This record gives sequence, C-alpha cells and structure tokens, in this order.
Amino acid sequence: MSIIFQEEKGLLTLHTKHSTYQMAVDRFGVLRHLYYGRRADGTEFYYPYTEYDISFSAVPPRTETEGFFSFDTCPQEYTTCGVGDYRPASIGVVNPDGSFCADFRYVSHRVLPGKYAIPGMPASHAAEGEAETLEIVLRDEVTDLSVVLRYGVFFENDVIARSAEIVNGSKGKTVLTRAFSMCLDFPYGKWDLLHFHGRHCLERQAERMPLGYTKQVLSSGRGHTSHHENNFCILCDENASEDHGECYGFMLVYSGNFKTEIERTQLNAVRIVSGINDDNFRWTLESGESFHTPEVLLSFSGGGLTALSHQYHEMIRSHICRGKFAKARRPVLINNWEATMFDFTTDKVIEIARQGAELGCELFVLDDGWFGARDSDHAGLGDWFVNERKMPGGLMPLIEAVQSFGMKFGIWIEPEMINEDSDLFRKHPDWALAVPGREPVRGRHQLVLDMTRKDVRDYLFDCFSALIANHPISYIKWDMNRCIAEVFSAELPPERQGEVFHRFTLGFYDLIGRLTESFPDVLFEGCSGGGGRYDAGAMYYTPQIWLSDDTDAIERVKIQYGSSFGYPVSTMGAHVSVAPNQQTGKNTPLHTRGIVAMSGTFGYEMDLNLLSEEEKEEVRQQIRTFKEHYWLIQDGLYYRLTDVVHNTAYAAWMFAAKDGSEALVNLVVTHVRPNYVPMHVRLKGLIPEAKYREEVEGTEGRVYTGAALMYGGYTFPALWADYPSCQVHFTRID
Ligand code: GLA
Repeated sequence: MSIIFQEEKGLLTLHTKHSTYQMAVDRFGVLRHLYYGRRADGTEFYYPYTEYDISFSAVPPRTETEGFFSFDTCPQEYTTCGVGDYRPASIGVVNPDGSFCADFRYVSHRVLPGKYAIPGMPASHAAEGEAETLEIVLRDEVTDLSVVLRYGVFFENDVIARSAEIVNGSKGKTVLTRAFSMCLDFPYGKWDLLHFHGRHCLERQAERMPLGYTKQVLSSGRGHTSHHENNFCILCDENASEDHGECYGFMLVYSGNFKTEIERTQLNAVRIVSGINDDNFRWTLESGESFHTPEVLLSFSGGGLTALSHQYHEMIRSHICRGKFAKARRPVLINNWEATMFDFTTDKVIEIARQGAELGCELFVLDDGWFGARDSDHAGLGDWFVNERKMPGGLMPLIEAVQSFGMKFGIWIEPEMINEDSDLFRKHPDWALAVPGREPVRGRHQLVLDMTRKDVRDYLFDCFSALIANHPISYIKWDMNRCIAEVFSAELPPERQGEVFHRFTLGFYDLIGRLTESFPDVLFEGCSGGGGRYDAGAMYYTPQIWLSDDTDAIERVKIQYGSSFGYPVSTMGAHVSVAPNQQTGKNTPLHTRGIVAMSGTFGYEMDLNLLSEEEKEEVRQQIRTFKEHYWLIQDGLYYRLTDVVHNTAYAAWMFAAKDGSEALVNLVVTHVRPNYVPMHVRLKGLIPEAKYREEVEGTEGRVYTGAALMYGGYTFPALWADYPSCQVHFTRID
C-alpha cells in the first residue's frame, strides 16, 4: 500500500520507493501539507510547523480559541484565496456574488486502484498494479465551490502525479481567474532553482540560482510551452550536485501557457505553485460544471540531480509516452529540409532519399513545401493537397521510389496554422484567430487556426486521415511555427474569450489524440520551430520531438544537456546537418556532428550526395555504430559527466547499461585552448569490481576495473583543432 490513512490523526501518507509525502486534516478541517522528501516510515511531520502569532497575518473566524491560526502561515495542499493568505495562490475565483474568496475545508477522501485520467488532456498512465490514486474533496461551505485533489502514486518511479478538479456546486456562475495544478510548501527556504530558459534555436539552457526573497516566475504566455522557458524546473539543496543532495522536480504535463511561481516567504519558507498561466485566463463555470487542471509530475531525489533525471526519464518512457513507439526501436531518418528548404521536385528528393538509403537510413521524411502553393512560407498552409507542379502525379511516385530503396516514408504537416494566401483562408476567413476590427499580427507570415472550434478540427482530421489512409505513411512530423497572439475566437461570447488559450491547447490535444489513435502504426514526431513545444504533454502523443532548429553540434551539446535534466534521449529529435552550419556558420567535424546527434533519435538533414566518398564512408560507419549501440543509448542510464554551463572547454556524457555490462562515453571539445590540459572525467554507472575493455573508435584498448574508471577516472586523448570529439565504448569482459 503506497497510500496510508490514519483516521484518528487525520494523517494521509503517500510512500514511493524512496520518498514520503504527508498531509493532514487539522482541527479546523484545513488540509495541511506536512512533508515531502526522503522516505520516512512511521513518522509524523507536524512538528516543523509550530504556530505562533505573526503580526499582520489574518486570523479566520472561530479559530482564536484554539491557539493562533492563519492561512498566511499554514502549509497547504491547495490554497485558499481572498481569506488572508498573501503568498502565491493555487486558485483565484470570482463568485456569483462578485467576491473573490474561497476557503476550502476537507470533506472526504478515497483511495482508488490504478491511475486517474484527465478528460481531454494528457496524463501519466499505468498498467494494473503500477499506481494508486488518492482523491480528496475540499469544499467552501459558503459558495459550495469544491476542489477534488488527485494524487497518482507511482511507487517504483518515485513520482507523485497531481491534478485538481474544481467543481461549481453553487446555483450561480463562478469565474476562475486562476486554476493551478498544485501547491507545495516547504518549511525552509535555502534552495537553488534550476530552470531551463532560452529562445528559438537555443532552447533549454540550464540556469541555476539561489532563491532570494523575491518571487520567481517561470512562464509562457505564447500559446505553447515556448522556446523561452520550459515547464520543468528543479528546486535543490544549495549543496546538491549530480550525485548528492536533495532535489525536487516539477514537470507539467501540458503544452500551453503555463506559470510556476516560487516565493521565499517572510517565514523563510518556500512555496511553489504551478499550472496554466492565469494571464489572460478566465474560465466560466456554470452551476454544476467542473474544470480539470493539467497534471504536474513531482519527483524527489535524496541522491542528487542525476537520480532525479533518471526518475523522470523512466517515468516519461513508461508512463507518459504511449503506443507502440513509446519504447520501440525508431528508424534512422533522412530529412530534406536543410538540404532543399522549399525548393525541390520529386526527382530531387528521390536522389536525397536514394543516397540516404545507400548509407543506412531507414526512413525518408519529406519536410515542408509539398502542398498547396507552398513555394515559400508566405502561402499554402491550410491547403493540404499535393503541389502537382513540384510533385507531378502526387506523392506516390516519391513514396514508391523510397520504398524501392527499402525505406519507409514520412511527411511534414503543420495542422494548427493557416496562411492568408491559401484556399482555406479565402473560404473560411473566420477560422483564424483574430480580433474583429483589428488587423492581425502575423508570425512567419501565418495566422493561427481557431483550434477551439470543432468544425476546424473536424476539417483537419478529415484532411490528415485521408492523407495517411491513402498513402503508405509511417511517420508524421507535426509542426507549429508561431506564437499565438490576439487570441479571440469568433465562436465564443465576449465573457468567454479568456478561455481561448486553454481551449486552443485542448483542441490540439483533441486533434492529435484522434489522429494518433486512428493511426497507431504511424510514428508522430512533435515540433514547434524545433523545441517550442517540448514538454511531457506533447510527449503523450509524440514520443519524439525535434529538439531545436539549431543543428549546430556545439550548441546542441548545451541544448541536449539542459533537456536531459527532465527528458530522456528517446524524446530528443537530433540530426546531423551540413558544415558550415546553417544557423551559426560554424565548421564542425562530421565525426562530432555524428556523436552529438547519436545522443538523440538520430538522423540526417542534408543532401548526402554532396559528401566526398570518404565522408560517405564515415556516415555509413556512424549509422552502424548507432544501430549497434541503439539500446544502450535509448534504454541505458544517461549521465552528465561535465557541467556545460561552467566547463566551456569540453563536454562529456555517457550511457551505462542498467546491468553495468557496457557503457558508451562521449566527449566534445567545445573550446580548444593552447598548452593542453588533460580532459579527465569520472565515469558512472559501472560495477566497481567488474573488468571493462576500452574500445576507442573501433580500436581495442586497455582493460580497467569499474572502480578505476569511476573512482580514478578516465583521461581522454589530447585533441585539437576545431571542435574535435571522441567516443569510447566499454564492454564488461569478466
Ligand atoms: C520548422 C521546423 C523545421 C522545418 C521547418 C519547415 O522550423 O522546426 O525543422 O520543418 O519548420 O518550415
């Protein structure tokens, strides 16, 4: 049993393998948060919260006679609002009478087998026996507004999933101005915040900083998760490192606007709340209606950041990604985008595919430009029929050629967007989000379709199901290439326009959910100008996501490093592209580009015909190496061996088989300096007493014990010139 209720004390305790989460219904019926951290059986955590009078903290009625109580100082599972708690709130309401208050008290709870689901939204899932659910009902007795808190306990994964359902039990209309997924209070405040910020082509840059007394806000208001801030963050002990110290992860399973607020309070405590961004959010609940928040995945590690990452990697692979591709062997692909952009014909891409097949690629992906009048990014989005000028006879001549090379065929789509220069827009101008009387802002010359509308989603479903049903398509790249502005749906009344952002995300989930369920044999890869919608919500539908439009290997090292804190390499779309690189102009050796892309789903995004024979042979070898180590890379344990933020000279990372039988160690020199200083790293995840044979780029080397490699470390050969790299494989031999 991972959920324990001690009735006489009102104590609710959740255990995972290595963590404990505790809450209690107090003498006022308030559901207090007591503890989240290291596993502690048979322990009660009331004591950190002694109650003493804090001036200027409001006191609720009927509590004075029983010692001091204030919501302002009380740790809570889900906060009240408007009744004297001045820290970040998990909810904001406008009641039928216009007041802003909600004071939630415990009503009941129940424990259910299995993992709860959330209607219309992605959420973690579990097979029988893998998870349990705790459901707690809280209610405001004046307004009859309730909150149902749900906790999904994944014992083996050390993850607790949380979500809330807000139910309007009143006779009138209640407006939610904030509906967050969670609140977590810590009794102490010395934490570092690790978050992942960036911009287009530079996503998920890790930044670690101490929490000061100012409120920290991580958010996106762009309509998608964004390139600019990821919806995963970590709070860790100020002394925590990869291998030591306490760390807490917070990962939203959501792909729209989000907000995470973290405040170090007057009491030196820390509160974190997280959920849908409440900027431009207002959701009306009629009497009897309810609102489901997205889910957040909490995980705790008492043994440092690497263990926390491993917990999330396993969680995402086993309980977020779904369908036959979640853990399946994925194809090595060749994509034509950086090779041709919009300028291609069937014959031209056949040659790219042919060369890809010859060198070992397994899937050809036809990127943007195959439909409508799509000769540039000014036109065509919305017209999902083949451009016969570029591709006479449609897609079949290309598909047949690709298949004759022994490859599968995949194709790019961008369902949620529309160009004004398209037949679809000329026919349905009201299908785009726009504010009446206001000329719309554009992004990449395109508008955004109103995904809140069922007729729009049905049209798109029909287009893409016909496309997939009528062609042997094995893979879809689902793109989304602009941020949303002027969110206004022609179908909704003025007072419901604050729902459009979230309804857009629900519309995306509805469409991609229907398509992925209708075509379970198609591998869907997510994309949003690279990594603008790289989140656990999207991973529920697309087990791999194009990580960034930046294919520069040296920049990718940093992007992959930042992404690895929360997400497994099996979700990271990564390709080798040309040098000089199209985004940075850097000249990186093919070898280095290969090593970096191999730490992802792997593929090529270039015209391989333009390579020399020697380079082609190198590509052949890269694909062989990747295939040989496929399971070690995708299923092994991923270790960051250097801190790429502070070590700007070289980056190293490795994969270790879970049984310690082999390991693959990678090094990229990111800044060569004169007068060589040895590049030394300590390996991880090996068996100390086992013996390992070293193999550097196909050449057998020395035998080391695991202890030697982990405690003594490993020194890479001296490397110089522009961005060299090295890959070393270790095999257990005893
Ligand atoms: C986005 C994607 C790219 C490519 C282009 C096509 O930028 O991230 O990989 O598909 O769109 O327009």
